[in-house]
Amino acid sequence: MNRVPRRRFGRLDLQGGVVGLGTVKWGRNLKLHYAPFELPSDATLGRLLNSAEELGINVLDTAPAYGVAEERLGRLLADRRGRFVVVTKVGEEFEGGESRYDFGAEPVRLSVERSLKRLRLECLDLVLLHCPPDDLAAILGSPALETLSRLKEKGWLRYFGVSSMTLEGGLKAVQLSDAVMVSWNYLYRDQEEVIHAAGREGKAVLLKKALLSGKLSSGRASDGSTILEACVASALDKGDVSALIAGTLNPEHLLENAAAAIKWEEKRRRDQGRHSPSRNAEDGTSPRLEAESG
Ligand SMILES: NC(=O)c1ccc[n+]([C@@H]2O[C@H](COP(=O)([O-])OP(=O)(O)OC[C@H]3O[C@@H](n4cnc5c(N)ncnc54)[C@H](OP(=O)(O)O)[C@@H]3O)[C@@H](O)[C@H]2O)c1
Repeated sequence: MNRVPRRRFGRLDLQGGVVGLGTVKWGRNLKLHYAPFELPSDATLGRLLNSAEELGINVLDTAPAYGVAEERLGRLLADRRGRFVVVTKVGEEFEGGESRYDFGAEPVRLSVERSLKRLRLECLDLVLLHCPPDDLAAILGSPALETLSRLKEKGWLRYFGVSSMTLEGGLKAVQLSDAVMVSWNYLYRDQEEVIHAAGREGKAVLLKKALLSGKLSSGRASDGSTILEACVASALDKGDVSALIAGTLNPEHLLENAAAAIKWEEKRRRDQGRHSPSRNAEDGTSPRLEAESG
């Protein structure tokens, strides 16, 4: 079976499939912008994880604010040790249907310690600040990044970064950390400069909202590809993107997301064969989408 292409995360000593798997729906079904759904069973998630691995989808994005997602992931990863890149977060807690934020040194340290226990890992691959809308307050006005840097030195985590909310926050994250998770899709490009800045600095870039949070219309792009394929292609055309994180509980959607990345890679190889070797991944090989023409 074909697998999704892999990319190195910037200049970090980390690599993974260009489509990752988000786990918010593994552990929480309240106050999300998705259609209502039931939390899946561990058996269902085990099958999803097996399919993901077969497809080369090996980057898992989770967070303490995703309800019981970390604990469930810990149980499921116990006999899949070392086969996935695990990204988690600090700073946001979701309790009683509400989010609260704390980026103090001790809460951040305790959160990382708890994630290690819940995920049953000795070291976390990447830990991100789970920022509120005012991300600069967490990035510049708290000891959180400094604390994560110390925990990196202690070997509790390999890399740290920021799941940012604003352009300014994203650019600061690129300066001060190893990685940034940024909202980007063909309809929302306001923070594109963060992706380019991260590329210049060799930092990892994860995309959130890359599949329009599931609000994919049934229309077609200019070359006949589906909107999903066009979303994936437009994201992967950005050579500075390490992986787009797509959340799904649906095995058919998982397969479609992988197939879209594989199709993108096949087209890229064909185009490379046709054009000069200097043509790079960002020359615009993705199909034209309505928002780009307007
Ligand atoms: N602040 C943060 O750090 C932050 C914020 C948002 C998201 N995230 C991360 O990013 C992940 C993705 O969340 P997102 O909001 O950015 O959403 P997204 O990946 O743009 O979309 C996820 C939604 O799309 C649907 N979907 C996935 N593949 C599909 C397909 N092939 N066809 C149709 N629908 C499809 C899923 O529903 P089905 O289950 O039905 O497939 C899910 O409801 C989250 O799980 C989380 O890990 C992080």
